Amino acid sequence: MTKNKRGISSFMNVKRYTKVAGILTIGLMLNGCRGMKSEKPPVHPNMNMDQQPRKEAQEVNNYFADGRSMRQPVDGTVARGFEKADLAYYEGIEENGDFVAEMPVDITKSLLYRGKDRYEVFCTPCHGITGDGRGIIMTGGYGYVPAPTYHQDRLREAPDGEIYSAIYNGVRNMPSYAHQIPVDDRWAIVAYIRALQASQNVTKDQITQYDVDLSDLEAKYEAEQAKLAEMQAAKEASQGEQVATAEHGKEVATQYACQTCHSVDGSVVIGPSWKDLFGSTGKVTTDAGETITVTKDSEYIIESITHPYAKIVDGFDPLMADAYGSLSKYDLESLVEYIKTLSDN
Ligand code: HEC
Ligand code: HEC
Repeated sequence: MTKNKRGISSFMNVKRYTKVAGILTIGLMLNGCRGMKSEKPPVHPNMNMDQQPRKEAQEVNNYFADGRSMRQPVDGTVARGFEKADLAYYEGIEENGDFVAEMPVDITKSLLYRGKDRYEVFCTPCHGITGDGRGIIMTGGYGYVPAPTYHQDRLREAPDGEIYSAIYNGVRNMPSYAHQIPVDDRWAIVAYIRALQASQNVTKDQITQYDVDLSDLEAKYEAEQAKLAEMQAAKEASQGEQVATAEHGKEVATQYACQTCHSVDGSVVIGPSWKDLFGSTGKVTTDAGETITVTKDSEYIIESITHPYAKIVDGFDPLMADAYGSLSKYDLESLVEYIKTLSDN
């Protein structure tokens, strides 16, 4: 067999082409690097699927009736890793919607300490360090609806899920903290609130078991009470013999955000409306559990403000915080004057 001349020459050609192709490739690599600045459109030798008809975010798309190119996920779509089927854990409720009685997490010492830490970051400004509702922003008269004390039967007896729900959903005038506080921390806070409630609800006998100097505590308490009484007396004195007016009453109602819960037009918000309240009669339940009929005169109205749990209006829950005991006589009487103007009675 003779050598095929053409075969050799084509072999030589292949070699030469490879060389040229190699130089070209390097040239392309140097020229076409992404990220290099150029006035010219980029060399795009391999299109893949880089360019094809598409809509930009927010662009109008008349194909759909609502004109949006960004589509909503189908109802009920759950993103990967976001299925929250454990209702008790994520929402604090049972299948039937009732609050869970007990928290679905193990209570450990580290959970309690985590709860304390988070509680003090997120809740103390309003609820106070001991949970008595006297957080720093509540004491300045800045017009906030008062945070209730946790140390009342209603909240001591509330199921764990209800406390959790206050953080998760918010409650009436309190906003939700679900975005700031992840699920584990919410339960840690619930556990800590239970600890606070237990700590503030002990008998003398229980305290003495723990080697605490009771007389010292009592002396401190009395000194505190005396100081409060002194402040109250100073407040009364500074207001002198000012005569109560409806104008001032309206100011007080605004300053203390009463209207967040009480309308003046007859509609029910969270509490009864003040329209036609003065002089009316109605049923209330006393703190002794009796249902009686009362006439809503000045004395009744003032008691309703300073001791909100003494008589609960029929058909309402005891949701008004016991936080107005330090209002002065002038403020209280002015509130009554204002409420009178809203009544034809
Ligand atoms: C900005 C002030 C503010 C902050 C911060 C705040 N709360 Fe509240 N909270 C309130 C107010 C006001 C109410 C009463 C709302 C009402 O009755 O309209 C309330 C009510 C509650 C209640 C009672 C719920 C009920 O069933 O009556 C609980 C429990 C509670 N908060 C827990 C918390 C926890 C836990 C935190 C921290 C994660 C927190 N709050 C942070 C203002 C606040
Ligand atoms: C968080 C909501 C809330 C706020 C804020 C609030 N109250 Fe109330 N109030 C209630 C509720 C609920 C009742 C009915 C249950 C009861 O008797 O405690 C009530 C009852 C009353 C009553 C008795 C009404 C009746 O029909 O017999 C008076 C008077 C009253 N509030 C005055 C005030 C004044 C004054 C303020 C502001 C200084 C105030 N409230 C702030 C919720 C609130």
